[in-house]
Amino acid sequence: MKLNFVRLRLLLALVGLLTPAVVMALAHPDLFGCDGCHTPHNVEVLPGVPLWNGSETTTRFVMYSSDTFQGTADGQPGGDSMLCLGCHDGSNPNYAWMNPDHSFGTDELASSHPISFVYDSALAARDGALKDPSEASTLGGTILEDLLDPESKVQCGSCHDVHSSSVGDSLLRGYDYGSQHGPGLCRMCHIK
Ligand code: HEC
Ligand code: HEC
Ligand code: HEC
Ligand code: HEC
Repeated sequence: MKLNFVRLRLLLALVGLLTPAVVMALAHPDLFGCDGCHTPHNVEVLPGVPLWNGSETTTRFVMYSSDTFQGTADGQPGGDSMLCLGCHDGSNPNYAWMNPDHSFGTDELASSHPISFVYDSALAARDGALKDPSEASTLGGTILEDLLDPESKVQCGSCHDVHSSSVGDSLLRGYDYGSQHGPGLCRMCHIK
């Protein structure tokens, strides 16, 4: 994405004010079927992606860091993030047509919400304004069950649900949809 996270949110809030109805996003299976990500045979193993088809990004990314971020991000995106970026890294020739605002170039994860790091009770205690991952999300289970991958990591899939178009705009989990993006998603994990 070209803009940083905060400016993009401000921009989208403005667009939201001017747009009368929220346009529902297409779920990925409507775009690709299931085999963009899964395969029934000869599967490869990736934590967080059952029956993985093996597609992944080969881009080397600069990962997020800041003075206040207290997680330890993996050297490169892992889990479902590695799968997502296989198409969303701006260098997959099959998706050269993708809207550039939907792809992340080599330095664009550095200006996005951190991913590919463990979110556990110890991090919640250090941060002081994060829920414990054993607390409920608003999706029926706990944060750990509903939002984190099998290694207890925050990934692209923590915020986005690629399977369901019923989640709404930008395939976001747990959002309260009004004319603007609400804070419902963020408050599943943050106490702010
Ligand atoms: C864009 C990639 C993508 C596509 C396309 C996709 N999936 Fe998935 N699937 C994932 C990821 C990532 C997970 C693990 C995280 C999760 O459950 O959201 C997953 C998990 C699953 C699971 C196990 C978890 C659960 O919810 O029970 C099933 C079953 C599944 N997918 C079936 C399907 C089927 C059937 C289709 C086609 C209709 C499909 N998927 C299309 C990425 C994808
Ligand atoms: C902490 C939550 C969070 C994480 C993690 C996250 N996103 Fe997002 N993403 C959002 C939100 C919220 C938006 C809506 C735009 C905005 O307000 O910035 C968005 C927007 C997008 C869009 C643009 C959609 C549109 O309709 O304009 C794409 C594509 C996207 N994200 C892909 C990803 C990928 C790929 C990853 C992992 C590398 C990822 N996201 C990780 C929250 C997240
Ligand atoms: C097989 C390729 C592929 C994979 C894998 C993939 N995507 Fe996408 N995704 C696309 C394409 C193509 C679009 C449409 C792009 C456009 O219109 O510019 C898209 C659109 C999106 C959007 C915007 C939806 C909207 O309409 O607002 C989001 C958000 C998104 N993807 C997130 C993810 C996440 C999260 C993952 C991993 C779990 C993922 N994608 C995996 C190809 C993929
Ligand atoms: C799945 C849980 C989860 C969701 C959902 C989530 N976050 Fe986070 N976020 C975290 C964790 C964990 C950290 C790392 C906290 C730390 O370093 O102490 C973090 C860090 C941050 C930071 C601090 C980064 C830094 O450099 O210190 C900000 C700001 C933030 N998130 C904003 C958001 C916003 C805005 C949303 C909604 C669009 C959101 N988060 C959604 C879990 C989440």
